[in-house]
Amino acid sequence: MNKATNIVWHQATITRDNRQQQNQHKSTILWFTGLSGAGKSTLAHAVEERLHEMGVRTYVLDGDNIRHGLCKDLGFSDADRTENIRRIGEVAKLFVDAGVVALTAFISPFRSDRDAVRALVKDNDFLEVYCKCSLETCEGRDVKGLYKKARAGEIPAFTGITSPYEEPLNAEIVVETDKHEISACVDQVIAVMQQRGIIPA
Ligand code: ADX
Repeated sequence: MNKATNIVWHQATITRDNRQQQNQHKSTILWFTGLSGAGKSTLAHAVEERLHEMGVRTYVLDGDNIRHGLCKDLGFSDADRTENIRRIGEVAKLFVDAGVVALTAFISPFRSDRDAVRALVKDNDFLEVYCKCSLETCEGRDVKGLYKKARAGEIPAFTGITSPYEEPLNAEIVVETDKHEISACVDQVIAVMQQRGIIPA
């Protein structure tokens, strides 16, 4: 629902199609989701590197970074996470219109929030990449030391410990980051993008 009234959509003369033609590839959202420590950011950046080498225009939106700026007013309550994902969905949609492959790395724990982003864009414009990794492995890695703090009761509502993570049911891509090397997971994502005609084979 719009809060503002009297606003009129301005139709651009340069369209997404024009930009895609200039780029020689299509745009889409690669939506990486999974527990903290599941490898979302690592994989998103590794996929970006591969795409960049192929001449594809890309941008990574990363949870920890975006929460320093655009979403600095949000915490980790359910409502704040929902708003976080709504904003990122809208930003990613703009990137798609700009002809860029947007890679987003957010826990995005709620299925309904991810589905709401999916519903914002067309088919093939939202590829959900589930970074599947057991809680035990994420906690064992504990790269940021946050699981230890969460277990000690120092971080409220920590995903996987005291706040839920709802697994994707129909993700376009499932990467098992606790079983395969990063480069194999990158191959998997690139192959799906090629099969779908987003980037040239
Ligand atoms: S989301 O749930 O709203 O999608 P987002 O991906 O932006 O989360 O941020 C998650 C990152 O914030 C984690 O990788 C971690 O570094 C940090 N973080 C801090 N507090 C929490 C918390 N309570 N739950 C999960 N992650 C947290």
